[in-house]
Amino acid sequence: MVEETSRSIGPVVLLGAPGAGKGTQAKRIAARYGIPHVSTGDLLRDHVQRGTTLGQQVREAMSRGELVSDHLVCDMVKDRLRQADCARGSVMDGFPRTVAQARWLDMFLERECGFFDKSMSSKGWLIVIQLAVDYNQLLHRLTGRRTCPSCGRIYNVHLQPLRVAGACDLDGSTLVIRDDDREEVIRERLAVYERQTQPVAEYYRRKGRLTTVDGDLAVDEVTNKVFCEIDRAAGGST
Ligand code: AP5
Repeated sequence: MVEETSRSIGPVVLLGAPGAGKGTQAKRIAARYGIPHVSTGDLLRDHVQRGTTLGQQVREAMSRGELVSDHLVCDMVKDRLRQADCARGSVMDGFPRTVAQARWLDMFLERECGFFDKSMSSKGWLIVIQLAVDYNQLLHRLTGRRTCPSCGRIYNVHLQPLRVAGACDLDGSTLVIRDDDREEVIRERLAVYERQTQPVAEYYRRKGRLTTVDGDLAVDEVTNKVFCEIDRAAGGST
């Protein structure tokens, strides 16, 4: 149920390793606060599937579990954040993922939205929520992940029984396994996270914007904690 309709929310940045639950929680945040879910992974996969110029440029890096170049991702995010539905805020899943992307986002929000200027604080605020999950749990989650190609719902065959094996509980579509959810690619994605994305958490910690939630908890418990953090940040921003 959408509970909020007018006030600015976020942007909310979800930070966490592959499999930490960013996509799962981002969908719930989007539904509760009525803001769009901006997932750079979904946007890039859509380009690959449609065979656009960008899709052709990023296909190989993604299939190896490496990051796509900062400038390609930032240009794509800029186009997305300029769309009208992002005016009240957004929940960002998978971005920023390097310190260069985090710096770019600060600059973008400052220039285009007047963020970080105290006199304009009512325009919005940035909260970064890191979902912390144990390494072996991440491996287990990613090897069991299945996604519905029609409605986007995310499942896990190790952790949540399906009503009909291999089919979406909501619309019956055949569930798919992501190309980069093969074990050797998963290990590379986790290594890339340690190397290139952990420093982003440190970047936001130094700015006093980082909050950490225990992502090892059950999905609903994580959601409750995440909503509390957002509500607290929203309360403090007015
Ligand atoms: P992206 O699509 O962003 O993938 P990722 O970061 O690797 O994260 P995942 O989508 O794998 O995991 P998640 O945290 O969303 O977990 P989920 O909720 O699905 O990126 C893919 C690629 O695109 C990158 O490798 C890169 O090449 C490129 N890319 C994207 N953004 C980029 C950027 N900014 N810069 C450069 N390159 C970029 O959950 C996982 C599983 O766990 C599911 O089965 C779910 O049901 C289950 N689960 C979730 N929460 C829980 C819980 N609390 N308890 C039990 N199970 C749970």
